[in-house]
Amino acid sequence: MNKVKVQAPSNIAFIKYWGNKKDNIPLNESVSMTLDNCLTKTTACFSDKDFDEIYIKNNSGEKTLLEKNDIKGKKAYEQIEIIRKISGKKNKLTIESENNFPTGAGIASSASGFCALSGACAKIFEINDLIGNKKEFSKLVRKSGSASAARSVFGGFVSLKDGGDGNYFAEQIADEASWKLTDTVAILKNSVKKTPSSEGHRLAKTSPFLNTRLSEVKKRLSDVKQAIIKKDFEKLGHAIEKDTISMHAVMMTSTPPLFYLEPETLKLIKLIIDARNKGTEAYYSIDAGANVHVICEEKNEEKVNKFLSELKFVKSQIINHVGSGIKFL
Ligand code: DP6
Repeated sequence: MNKVKVQAPSNIAFIKYWGNKKDNIPLNESVSMTLDNCLTKTTACFSDKDFDEIYIKNNSGEKTLLEKNDIKGKKAYEQIEIIRKISGKKNKLTIESENNFPTGAGIASSASGFCALSGACAKIFEINDLIGNKKEFSKLVRKSGSASAARSVFGGFVSLKDGGDGNYFAEQIADEASWKLTDTVAILKNSVKKTPSSEGHRLAKTSPFLNTRLSEVKKRLSDVKQAIIKKDFEKLGHAIEKDTISMHAVMMTSTPPLFYLEPETLKLIKLIIDARNKGTEAYYSIDAGANVHVICEEKNEEKVNKFLSELKFVKSQIINHVGSGIKFL
């Protein structure tokens, strides 16, 4: 085999991971829903050159070489090296990666990207026991440039938690068929965020609110897990919103402060609350970007769709249902 293709999904965190113990070791457990319509496709093939190359393809098919001099680029090349070492092989790789959604805008493009990259490397280097053991594979993905990428290994509803030894792994809470939820991403800005999450994780410790968040998040984690098992949408929705605000409070009170929210983001938050009070049962979630994930039950998807379509400042919508995990194509 000298060419492989892998597809990995993005995910939206209901309980967010924000802040690191150290390199990519989260300070708290997180829980997410895997998305079926925000995907990265990655191919890997053996190269004749004596160095690795990673190309990012844009929507018009143009390829750009990923440079090693930014944080994500460095991590991506390091991940190839780590996986090559495990395999005991020597081949250099040419990787091509393509997203079907905006990159770096709070839709966890590095989650799908690093999951797909790790999968493509493990597959081409034929580390089959790792590919066959999703829990172990998720530990490897967690060490990449995006710890939340480990959650994209699984479909459905997924937790990223400490195995007791400080080694975080992903675990499925409920599968993709268990509950029909929709995440409509309201695109407000297409621009790439100025401060990458990796930098934000580092700054989290400078916030006086971090410890408050870490102590209150435990109760919320259990509420979210229970809500997923019992399909209690109201309970889930309130916990999702509380967690979003709690994470952004830490972001905004870090030194220097991080403002991922834009005026349009706050405008939409208020409109979602108003719409909910008038009977549209939907809740917001916002990652490290300005765009808003609007979570509802699938039966209310059209209502949410119509509500968002009527807002001029919403540029476009990406509708996601609960998706499956990484696929080796
Ligand atoms: C706010 O470092 O795992 O999305 O943000 O995709 O670069 P990227 O990855 P990572 O941080 C995730 C931060 C978050 C919350 C979450 O998904 O848990």
